[in-house]
Amino acid sequence: MSKILVTGGCGYIGSHTIIDLVENGFEVISIDNNVRSNPDILNIVTKITGKKIENYALDLCDLDAIQTVFEAHRDIAGIIHFAAYKSVPESVQEPLKYYQNNLNSLLNILTCVEQFQVPNFIFSSSCSIYGNTSVLPVTEDTPMCRAESPYASTKQMAERIIEDFSVANPSINSILLRYFNPAGAHQSGFMGEIPQAGAYNVVPILMEALTGARGQFTVTGDDHDTRDGSCIRDYIHVMDVGNAHTKSLQYLLNKKNSTNCEAFNVGIGAGISVLELIAAFDKATGQQLDYSIGPRRAGDVSSIYSDYSKAKRLLGWTPQYNVDDILATAWQWFQTGYVFAED
Ligand SMILES: NC(=O)c1ccc[n+]([C@@H]2O[C@H](COP(=O)([O-])OP(=O)(O)OC[C@H]3O[C@@H](n4cnc5c(N)ncnc54)[C@H](O)[C@@H]3O)[C@@H](O)[C@H]2O)c1
Repeated sequence: MSKILVTGGCGYIGSHTIIDLVENGFEVISIDNNVRSNPDILNIVTKITGKKIENYALDLCDLDAIQTVFEAHRDIAGIIHFAAYKSVPESVQEPLKYYQNNLNSLLNILTCVEQFQVPNFIFSSSCSIYGNTSVLPVTEDTPMCRAESPYASTKQMAERIIEDFSVANPSINSILLRYFNPAGAHQSGFMGEIPQAGAYNVVPILMEALTGARGQFTVTGDDHDTRDGSCIRDYIHVMDVGNAHTKSLQYLLNKKNSTNCEAFNVGIGAGISVLELIAAFDKATGQQLDYSIGPRRAGDVSSIYSDYSKAKRLLGWTPQYNVDDILATAWQWFQTGYVFAED
């Protein structure tokens, strides 16, 4: 059984990915200092999978501390590096905090990969690296435009760091997974995204607007050059994102080609407009969301969605869930009040 170190294993995508890894026979340990998460989520992962996951509550910016984990686990077959700050608006307000955390944690983990010769490395990248592109759908070869935020900039820089690291370390294989818009929750209803202040994705905002936990939902512009004038995005279920990591590890463990750093898009391959999302949300909740149309938001790309055919071809990955599943599972989780019920 291959041992995988997951950083950020208590976070939204990390915790859901651990379930898919365990269900596919991997042994998992985690490093997460819980700066942006609740460690109790791993008890829910245990409840779902039957496997206890050991988490080391360490700051990845502390190299000495994380080296102790590698010394205690000399048999790590691969690393999935999720840990990072992820709020675009917060990164605009506090850019140094983002460069400090997201880049230092990556440099430290790569230092350990090199020092302990861990053969496989997977990085959580983002479609934000493509910037304000007009080429659709986006393929992995679509040229990157200027990053629209310090957050996106950390992802572009991180990819460059890993590419340079790969040239210098030909025996270590890396994958850059560029997620589009992860959303939804585990199908059990026991766990999902816990929205962080200032880091809200659209699905939690829709749910809070419907239940009155926040004000009326505003569609940011209906004059974009899209089929109904609202922005178009590519929503991908979090369990499909999780499975892309399992498939990436399986690919790396059986790797035959000579390229040791490859990027893959992780999206559903189709765009959904905000107005279409609201219609699907009404269907999932059986209620009608009250919303208004507001002005466009500065820096918003009108439309972006992926071409994931490379991941399908090389990793054998295809999304299993659609937008209705995303909204149904998110709504089920939201109704728990974001409480982890351990019994
Ligand atoms: N959720 C999205 O919409 C989205 C989209 C594209 C890319 N991503 C990327 O995917 C990754 C995971 O995202 P997520 O949604 O699960 O985020 P999250 O905030 O839920 O999880 C990140 C985890 O990393 C931990 N962490 C952060 N800094 C740390 C440090 N210095 N030391 C130890 N632990 C630390 C946090 O406590 C948290 O548990 C991130 O790299 C994010 O940028 C997320």
